[in-house]
Amino acid sequence: MPPTPPADRPVHVPVLLDAVLERVAPRPGDRCCDATLGAGGYARRLLAACRPSGSLLVCDRDPSACDAARAGDLGVAPDCEIWCGNFAALADHRSAADGFDALVADLGVSSAHVDDPARGFSFLRDGPLDMRMDPRSGRSAADFVARESEDALADLFYELGEEHRSRRVARAIVAARGRSPIETTGALAGIVSRALGGRRGARHPATRVFQALRCAVNREIENLDAFLAALPRLVRPGGRAAVVTYHSLEDRRVKRAFLALERGAAWTVLTRKPVVADLAERRANPRSRSAKLRAILRSEAPNGPGAST
Ligand SMILES: C[S@@+](CC[C@H](N)C(=O)[O-])C[C@H]1O[C@@H](n2cnc3c(N)ncnc32)[C@H](O)[C@@H]1O
Repeated sequence: MPPTPPADRPVHVPVLLDAVLERVAPRPGDRCCDATLGAGGYARRLLAACRPSGSLLVCDRDPSACDAARAGDLGVAPDCEIWCGNFAALADHRSAADGFDALVADLGVSSAHVDDPARGFSFLRDGPLDMRMDPRSGRSAADFVARESEDALADLFYELGEEHRSRRVARAIVAARGRSPIETTGALAGIVSRALGGRRGARHPATRVFQALRCAVNREIENLDAFLAALPRLVRPGGRAAVVTYHSLEDRRVKRAFLALERGAAWTVLTRKPVVADLAERRANPRSRSAKLRAILRSEAPNGPGAST
């Protein structure tokens, strides 16, 4: 049994955990990598499977996730290597030089981000408008909202959040920031809500705008593209990779990248359709509702065998 983390950490329930492990199928002796450590849910299972002779590299760009792992709070230290970095640059890490047998990436934010108002991700809990996964670098969400032009904000909300009333929201933000700076998640959520006429369905009216800002602040699409482009260096022959996404923009990219690898031969897509959470998981863990899992196998030899679901 993998070790369990202490009970006082925010609870992040891993999404599609069994499905991911089934697709990447780690075995004793394998070289494994969890590119998005988070609360260690996937990492603990990878570690348990590759022991005693295998190895695990865990990566997260959020220093607090790496600190928690180093402190022994996630149940993976001291048996794995911990790297606090961006998975966009994973292929340059020395431990990635020979590639991995099992590589997983579970995109987006963890509960530790969303549940902590001080990180500024949540429109439900007021906090500083930050949203940086790595608070040591880059522009905060408040900076985007303060400095981008009305057109740039509207494009960002439309393209990264699929917010169809993006121009109306951008206009309201520019009007509001002319009166006073928008520095908290509560202030931004209020402005967006009022611009969109308040809550209509189950979803908070600011959901798409917050998603778009988070995506821009953390350069999530650019990082995902770099990670996908590096897969031929990251996955060794016979190895597998699995990626879990939470919105269609990301899923489309993963799907296209995997199909392009398969067309080039030596790779087999293991998921003809994305794997989604079943009803029981969706009920138990709302985060799983938008999750899509895709996986790919690199053959031992070109045109080698592969499975499909
Ligand atoms: C959904 S959580 C992972 C949860 C994990 N699978 C678990 O079961 O506990 C995503 C994590 O990926 C990290 N992350 C997101 N983008 C990243 C990137 N480009 N490079 C490294 N880590 C990233 C976030 O900081 C967050 O901790």
